[in-house]
Amino acid sequence: MMADFLNKHNEKMNHFAVERLDIQPTDKVLDIGFGGGITIEEMLQTIDTGKIYGIDFSQIMVEQAKQKFKLEIESNKVSIEFGDVKQLSFVENTFDRVCTVNTIYFWNDPLASLQEIKRVLKNDGKLVVGIRSADKMRELPVTQYNFRLYDPETVRELLVEAGFTNVSIDRRDRDLRLDCVMITAHA
Ligand SMILES: C[S@@+](CC[C@H](N)C(=O)[O-])C[C@H]1O[C@@H](n2cnc3c(N)ncnc32)[C@H](O)[C@@H]1O
Repeated sequence: MMADFLNKHNEKMNHFAVERLDIQPTDKVLDIGFGGGITIEEMLQTIDTGKIYGIDFSQIMVEQAKQKFKLEIESNKVSIEFGDVKQLSFVENTFDRVCTVNTIYFWNDPLASLQEIKRVLKNDGKLVVGIRSADKMRELPVTQYNFRLYDPETVRELLVEAGFTNVSIDRRDRDLRLDCVMITAHA
């Protein structure tokens, strides 16, 4: 139920993230906190000889994704693992693209986590961080609990502090309840 809820609720936003990532068919892509796996589904439409890696901090999401992408895992197009953004199990310079949508609110050390992402991103790699801004998130009662809310500028500053360059902010549906924000950065 949670996976279906996340996919339905966050569909538009995840589509925006994949668009900003500008994935190439040969890319190695990492999706951190994939939840219901909607971004992975969309990325699969572009990936050819490349591969998509998903990690998530929820064992339930991991098990569900392993079922959902069983065929793609068997054909070596997708890899799904349990993991924490703060300590990624990949060597330096592994990925062409990394994305993480609606997850930064739950990270206990955002700066260290972004530095960890930078470590696994290739030198010409690109990162997209998707958020809903703090003012919109405050309208949702659930965000009173265990959410750390961000303004886009705060995420930009964190990215620069973590060593990323060319950080840019794109916003969609700002006037609607959604207010999707994509912060794109280069390694
Ligand atoms: C609100 S859901 C978003 C799911 C999906 N990205 C989307 O936008 O629909 C947040 C996801 O991030 C995962 N998550 C939270 N903290 C994490 C961490 N430190 N490392 C990896 N995944 C994490 C959660 O388990 C959950 O699946």
